[in-house]
Amino acid sequence: MSEIREAVRSRYADAAKKIAVLQPESGLGCCQVDGPDCGCAGSYAADELQKIGMSDAVSLGCGNPTMLADLKPGEVVLDLGSGAGLDVLLSAKRVSPGGRAYGVDMTDEMLELANRNREQAGVDNATFLKGSIDSVPLPDASVDVVISNCVINLAEDKGAVMREAFRVLRSGGRFAVADMVELEPLSPALKKRLDSWAGCISGTIPIEEYRAALVEAGFAESAFEVHATQDLPGVGRVGSAYIRARKP
Ligand SMILES: C[S@@+](CC[C@H](N)C(=O)[O-])C[C@H]1O[C@@H](n2cnc3c(N)ncnc32)[C@H](O)[C@@H]1O
Repeated sequence: MSEIREAVRSRYADAAKKIAVLQPESGLGCCQVDGPDCGCAGSYAADELQKIGMSDAVSLGCGNPTMLADLKPGEVVLDLGSGAGLDVLLSAKRVSPGGRAYGVDMTDEMLELANRNREQAGVDNATFLKGSIDSVPLPDASVDVVISNCVINLAEDKGAVMREAFRVLRSGGRFAVADMVELEPLSPALKKRLDSWAGCISGTIPIEEYRAALVEAGFAESAFEVHATQDLPGVGRVGSAYIRARKP
C-alpha cells in the first residue's frame, strides 16, 4: 500500500472508532475528526434521517450527494468511499422498492460501522463491499447512479476513479458527487503533507483538471457548483463542490 493510501486508511480507521462513540449532537466535520464543517450540515432532511434512525453527525462528507442524484425506485446506486453508510442507507430507502444501494470502502473499521448502522436501520437493500474506488468489485454497466461524498480528492489517481465510475455505469447513468476542489493553488509544502492529504486538502485538484479527467473517462454534461469555501491563509484556498456528469 502506498504511503498516501495508508495515511488515508489509518485516518478513517480512527474516525470510524470515534464515530462509533459519537454523541448525536457533535458532528466530526468534513473529512476530519475535529475539523470545520464543509457544507453538509443541515443538508440532510430530518424526516429522511428519521426513517433510518441516523444523525448526519456521522457524515465526514462535504455535501449531500443524495440531493443531486434524483434517485428513483428500482435504481441501482453505488457510493464510492461509503464511510459510516449514511448516503448508502438514505439512497437505499429512495430506490426502494426494487432498487439496491452499494457502498465501497477500503477501511475495515468503516465497513464494520456501516454494517452495524445498516442492521440498526433495518435496511435490507443495501450492501457494503470491501474494495478500492479505482477497482470496484461490481460488473460493467451494472449501476444507474454513482454517488460519492468527499472521497475522490483522497485518491492518488483521480483518472482511474473516473474511468471506474464510467465502467460500472449503464449508458445514460449519472455521476452525482460532492467533493473538495482546489480554488487557489496550494503551496508545494502543503501538497506534500500526508495528514493534510488524508484531511481532504492536499489531494484536491482544480475544477478544470477535474472536468478534464471526467471528459477523458468518457463523461458528458459535466457541471460544477461550489457551495462552501475554506481559506487557508498564505497556503491556498479549497472549496466543497457538487459535481454532476452523465455517461452518454
Ligand atoms: C472523508 S471519508 C467520507 C466518508 C463518507 N463518504 C461520508 O460522507 O461520511 C472518506 C472515506 O473514503 C474511504 N476511502 C478513501 N480512499 C479510498 C479508496 N481509495 N478506496 C476505497 N475507500 C476509500 C475511507 O475509508 C473513508 O471511509
